[in-house]
Amino acid sequence: MSDVEILSSKKRKLSPDAAHEEEGGPSSSSAFHHDSSSPSSSTQHATSSPSPNNTNTTTPNNKLPPRPPNTYDNIRTAIVINDGTRTNLIRLIGLKSLFARQLPKMPKEYIARLVFDRRHKSLAILSSDPEKKDCDDEIIGGICYRAYPEMRFAEIAFCAVSASQQVKGYGTKLMNLLKMHAVTEGIEFFITYADNYAIGYFKKQGFTKAVSMPKGRYQGLIKDYDGGTIMECYVHPTIDFTRVPEMIQAQKQFILERIRAGTAKSDKVVYPPLPPDFYAGQDVKSRAEKGAAERSLAIPGVSEAGWTMADLMASTRDAKDSDKKKHQLKSDLLALVSKVQDQQYSWCFRDPVDTNEVKDYLDVVGDPIDLKTMEKRIRRGDWYKTKHMLFSDMMKMVNNCKLYNGEGNTYYDCAVSLEKYLASISPMFTE
Ligand code: ACO
Repeated sequence: MSDVEILSSKKRKLSPDAAHEEEGGPSSSSAFHHDSSSPSSSTQHATSSPSPNNTNTTTPNNKLPPRPPNTYDNIRTAIVINDGTRTNLIRLIGLKSLFARQLPKMPKEYIARLVFDRRHKSLAILSSDPEKKDCDDEIIGGICYRAYPEMRFAEIAFCAVSASQQVKGYGTKLMNLLKMHAVTEGIEFFITYADNYAIGYFKKQGFTKAVSMPKGRYQGLIKDYDGGTIMECYVHPTIDFTRVPEMIQAQKQFILERIRAGTAKSDKVVYPPLPPDFYAGQDVKSRAEKGAAERSLAIPGVSEAGWTMADLMASTRDAKDSDKKKHQLKSDLLALVSKVQDQQYSWCFRDPVDTNEVKDYLDVVGDPIDLKTMEKRIRRGDWYKTKHMLFSDMMKMVNNCKLYNGEGNTYYDCAVSLEKYLASISPMFTE
């Protein structure tokens, strides 16, 4: 059996806490677990699903409760590839039939070509009915996609749920599980041409029509479809998508508690301004956690508003961590720009195009960019929040050059060489 199964806490007879101990965290237990007897699933094994506890974007204070069993535990999924095994071939036939039934406007030959293509993979939700095993009815829903790891995105070619199972939440589960799997393949974005009547579904899965990836990253790789709308979805690397409703609930709860705690106390009191000698004799610049917290707590009204020593120390610590991260990012970004500047074919990208000399440049290029401007933005410190943003600017620079100069000249050749170089170092732009 080549199933890549969602861990069933029931099957393993483990409480969520026990699963935590055994699997290295409740969120890792929601990753794909494969059957070791499978000849094909080894390449798909996602061992390190990102933990929501690694991030403070998920719940306040990183306090996500242990993962309780949820509806994802009872479904069977598989990553299906054309590896020649009988099981996968049967499943690929099932997927092809499902897509052909649910996407009647798509030519059947085209669906078959992509589904069986070895560069494409499909995530399938399988029926739990043992009678249906080994027949193409086994497939409840599927998404067929092709990953472009060097560009860190994947194109979703087909997505469908069988007619009798639609609007029961399988479409959402498929997409959430695919997002979790994609992270393990280094995918940062999904892109798809959504059928116009499926745009609502994709929007609910976090897709947007505002594509933020620079065209150069996907143009020429994915096919244009008439009658479809191009949509993109950013896949956050640290979110456990099987727990999104719980996370939102926890965040809502946290905010409500804070509001209630605030309003229960007197929030109408106006305190007099601090006297000029309030901090006399103290090192106000010191950012030692305890000292900074004590100074803040001494301000009249702060403790009355519900702040505690622990809160204040945590927020000073967070601020320090965030400063450290910013410094690290800045030095990483400068190193990346300098790496690109050192390439021999980057000479024409080092300075802004002189638009006094090249008078029609801005008629053609809407958003000019060059290495010196990038460096200035990095040094200013408020422009690039991620390495990916710098990568996007680099790709924009390459595309601007190609667009303005056209093929068959030195500038175009430099742009092509730089593009290849950027593709080769693209993993360095991963956070
Ligand atoms: N338009 C607008 N909203 C939709 C649509 C739609 N076509 N389909 C589902 N939704 C909404 C649901 O109402 C639900 O909303 P809620 O969370 O507020 O309750 C949400 O999207 C998720 O619904 P699920 O039950 O998880 O989705 P479902 O299992 O029905 O799967 C899918 C959705 C895949 C679109 C399914 O309806 C289907 O197979 N349709 C036919 C094939 C199709 O159109 N596929 C997409 C073509 S584009 C492409 O493949 C790249």
